[in-house]
Amino acid sequence: MTLMLMAGVNHSVISEFIFLGLTNAQDIQLLVFVFSSMFYVASMMGNSLIIFTVAFDPQLHSPMYFLLANLSFIDLGVSCVTSPKMIYDLFRKHKVISFRGCVTQIFFIHVIGGVEMVLLIAMAFDRYVAICKPLHYLTIMCPRMCLFFVVTAWLVGLIHSLVQLAFVVNLPFCGPNVLDSFYCDLPRFIKLACIDTHKLEFMVTANSGFISVGSFIILIISYVIIIITVQKHSSGSSKALSTLSAHISVVVLFFGPLIFVYTWPSPSIYLDKFLALFDTVITPFLNSVIYTFRNQEMKMAMKRVCRQLLSYRKIS
Ligand SMILES: *[C@@H]1O[C@H](CO)[C@@H](O)[C@H](O)[C@H]1NC(C)=O
Repeated sequence: MTLMLMAGVNHSVISEFIFLGLTNAQDIQLLVFVFSSMFYVASMMGNSLIIFTVAFDPQLHSPMYFLLANLSFIDLGVSCVTSPKMIYDLFRKHKVISFRGCVTQIFFIHVIGGVEMVLLIAMAFDRYVAICKPLHYLTIMCPRMCLFFVVTAWLVGLIHSLVQLAFVVNLPFCGPNVLDSFYCDLPRFIKLACIDTHKLEFMVTANSGFISVGSFIILIISYVIIIITVQKHSSGSSKALSTLSAHISVVVLFFGPLIFVYTWPSPSIYLDKFLALFDTVITPFLNSVIYTFRNQEMKMAMKRVCRQLLSYRKIS
């Protein structure tokens, strides 16, 4: 990894990039600052609490919650890749990122995106087995299967990201170095290279587009099958439906802005920026809220864990 980054640096004249940022209007900057900081802190706390609760509450030691904790872990990553830098940069005139910092952001954005997609598919599969093949749930979703999903998710994320970087890491950059954005991502990064990059842009967009649209279609089909099954067997369907609606909301929240940004011919760069802000700042927070507040088991477990923590403090 370091070797590749070094190679990239050697080939280019440019050693840093300049972000134009979200907006120049000062009142909007203030608004974005307040909201982003709030959502950042809230999503760090919410997702940490989920991971902590699943780890320490024996009643949540089931495949669904293990996968959920893994999703929360990835959401912590989503919050950390671009938002701290964006918040730090908001009021600065000169928003600079080093070449290496830029490539690192791209690397982690794609790892995290890949992992999140596979985890969402694994969670859909988990619900499919639980609802459509309940008698075989424990044999199919055994700990090894869970681990298989998690390892696959990380492998897919890493490979996808390395392939994307392999396309771009040796591009020559000789200026200009201004990115009209608040983080580095491939389409705009490639456009700054000083060779003809049309083919490359196509490859890179096709790679991301293929993975995201592919996973989205798989997810839609699985949830349609699950919902049809739930409606056939009416017993116990309200709890199943509430869990499902939580899953489906998260899928829509994640893929909605993503597909819009990557595949729609961008109507305005402003809209693109605010959708990106939504995906990086608000979605990780909403995920934790959706899974916590729509889930009685999770709420009870959180209460138990908090009570235990408080009683530990009293004793010590
Ligand atoms: C992720 O899932 C694996 C496999 O079930 C589990 O062992 C691990 O604890 C989970 N990770 C987190 C952060 O909960």
